[in-house]
Amino acid sequence: MTPNQVFILDHPLVSHHLAALRSRDTRPSEFRAGVARLAMLIGVHATEDIPLKEVEIETPITTTTCERLDAEIGIVPVLRAGLGMVDPLLELIPDASVWHLGLYRNEETAEPVGYYDKLPRSNASDVALVLDPMLATGGSIELVVRRLQRWGVSDIRVLSIIAAQPGLDRVARDFPDVKIYVAAVDPSLNENAFIVPGLGDAGDRIFDTP
Ligand code: PRP
Repeated sequence: MTPNQVFILDHPLVSHHLAALRSRDTRPSEFRAGVARLAMLIGVHATEDIPLKEVEIETPITTTTCERLDAEIGIVPVLRAGLGMVDPLLELIPDASVWHLGLYRNEETAEPVGYYDKLPRSNASDVALVLDPMLATGGSIELVVRRLQRWGVSDIRVLSIIAAQPGLDRVARDFPDVKIYVAAVDPSLNENAFIVPGLGDAGDRIFDTP
């Protein structure tokens, strides 16, 4: 059963672009472009219920009431792979601020290790959009969510391209208030904690660093 706060995109364009990402034959330039396209599709979905406020606008003809975003939005890419999703999100929300968090997984233990944290002490964003193409064991996202909660963000949304079912279940169980938007959920992890069938190492494929 899919928990209430997990949203799995169901759209032909998502399936189409995901197939390209999964293929081992997709070159880094195409892979990067595919990540950006999927990030935009996920980004539209993940911002469907962002609050709006009414504003008066002068058109060249008359005055009318329009709506603009009514929330401070922070984009939080998880280095490195999350960098591949930043530009499309900024394209959608040009006034968002970008807060980088650096983590890598220890290759022996698969536990996340933090190495960079650009979050300030105060003035938390109203909404944080966490960007990481892969949610495998869920350990990295858990660390990021805890950090954002410490910063004071109450509305945390995770945008991933592929999540593994066990990691997704873990994050959903531990953080019932965090919304998770994914293009696909894969069934399992292998002995190296890689998502199966997955798409390999997203960071390496985005940056062409085997
Ligand atoms: C990958 C991926 C996530 C993390 C997911 O990063 O981009 O950040 O692992 O794994 P988890 O859910 O088990 O924590 P990686 O460590 O490969 O770093 P990179 O982005 O620098 O390639």
